[in-house]
Amino acid sequence: MSTGYGAPYVTEPHRPGWPARLGPVEVPAGTVRLRPVRLRDATEWSRIRLRDREYLERWEPAQAGTWAERNAAWSWPSQWSTLRRLAKRGQCLPFAITVDDDFAGQLTVGNIIRAALRSAWIGYWVSSSLAGGGVATAAVALATDHAFTQARLHRLEATVRPENLASLRVLGKVGYRREGVFRRYLEVQGRWRDHDCYAITREETGAGLVTGLVNAGRATLPEQA
Ligand SMILES: CC(C)(COP(=O)(O)OP(=O)(O)OC[C@H]1O[C@@H](n2cnc3c(N)ncnc32)[C@H](O)[C@@H]1OP(=O)(O)O)[C@@H](O)C(=O)NCCC(=O)NCCS
Repeated sequence: MSTGYGAPYVTEPHRPGWPARLGPVEVPAGTVRLRPVRLRDATEWSRIRLRDREYLERWEPAQAGTWAERNAAWSWPSQWSTLRRLAKRGQCLPFAITVDDDFAGQLTVGNIIRAALRSAWIGYWVSSSLAGGGVATAAVALATDHAFTQARLHRLEATVRPENLASLRVLGKVGYRREGVFRRYLEVQGRWRDHDCYAITREETGAGLVTGLVNAGRATLPEQA
């Protein structure tokens, strides 16, 4: 069937690639998996985020309310249900990151646009108790591979403050490439902050980003462990 503009009309499922469970991948911090966020993540989600305020807040976009209010366990159900609604509409892939089956952070593929764009952004945070253990790197690789296969996307973008060396390192290890700078892109801690734009398209992933991490000696798959 034709759209009338010469482009083929492709019928897609309503929300390709969702729900999904990804992994396991072994990294120095433990066994990393991604699974849909759950209502019962509230307690751990809140405990980590209240403890890690200093670690997280300087990188996250401004929102209404105080940190304590936004990250109290009682505020999780409304955030979870927004994420779930967007996921049901095919607009978002809201994952919890687990390490050794314990909640350890979040990875979200958001603002999914389909048709000829097939693009989205990727965002993530990981508990400070696991810093430097390879968790975010494994999670980004798992989610990117999934986005380009089961979820049928073509391009993912990550926007990062140039001062966020840990996040830049994660994207570099996985294989995202810098495309430029978005001036005064996001309001973070009361100011409009420049962000570097990193991106990757399906053509750049070769045999897959998880395979790339394994080949680089940064991760193992359980059968190899
Ligand atoms: C960014 C973040 C997700 C990384 O999580 P993580 O699980 O520690 O990431 P990994 O262990 O996979 O990789 C981190 C890398 O950054 C390096 N790193 C950490 N802090 C660094 C710093 N200050 N300078 C340079 N490198 C740094 C680590 O050594 C590691 O690299 P290596 O494997 O070569 O040693 C985590 O720091 C976080 O949640 N930060 C706050 C939220 C955030 O910034 N989210 C991303 C917004 S764009």
